[in-house]
Amino acid sequence: MSYHALAIDGPAGAGKSTIAKLLAKKLNYTYIDTGAMYRATTYKALSLEVDLSSPKSFDFLEDTEFIFKNGELYMDSVNMTHLNRTKEVSENVSLVASHIPVRNKLVTLQQEIAKDNNVVMDGRDIGTVVLKDADLKVFLTATVKVRAKRRYEELKALGRDISLEDIEEKLKKRDLYDSSREYNPLKKAEDAIEIDTSDKDIYQVVDLLYKKYTNIINKGEF
Ligand code: DC
Repeated sequence: MSYHALAIDGPAGAGKSTIAKLLAKKLNYTYIDTGAMYRATTYKALSLEVDLSSPKSFDFLEDTEFIFKNGELYMDSVNMTHLNRTKEVSENVSLVASHIPVRNKLVTLQQEIAKDNNVVMDGRDIGTVVLKDADLKVFLTATVKVRAKRRYEELKALGRDISLEDIEEKLKKRDLYDSSREYNPLKKAEDAIEIDTSDKDIYQVVDLLYKKYTNIINKGEF
């Protein structure tokens, strides 16, 4: 790998995207939100009304374009930021992300992006599958209560009417599904550093990771 990469994995609500975005900005790297690609695939499958439980339903990915601009995903030239956050997408994305052809296609696209760009990439299998040679791998965690509260605040800010209990239940279900699927499950890479963000300030975590990362990169260059 000639370009540099920082990989961030962990369950939903652990702080991955907030931390990854801030780090990418500080490092002047491209931020790649791989969850957005699985969500957009789910959105398209729902729009096409294909059978979500069949891995064969996703041939449309061959003719689907994914482009990241300023940290936001455009699928077939449409900005997916808001469309990706619907209840229907959130409830079906784990199933879609469990299909081998879907994973193989999206992983290949993610690796292609990282070939030509310095990236901070977040997801579930970045350190274990997508960027096994990343300069630094981070696995973020937080208690389920804290993660549910963060999601609740996010959705409330978007004007969504949903209870904290409901979010906690759905989060648990999605994490269980993501970490118990057979192919490329959510898992900490052996060489990843693990950080529990439950009672940490996000900026503290960003500073710590920035220092760690720049140390590694600078050592490699001199
Ligand atoms: O990070 P997120 O909540 O937007 O991710 C949505 C779903 O996509 C999540 O339930 C698991 C799946 N996903 C995955 O399987 N692999 C990735 N690299 C990123 C996300």
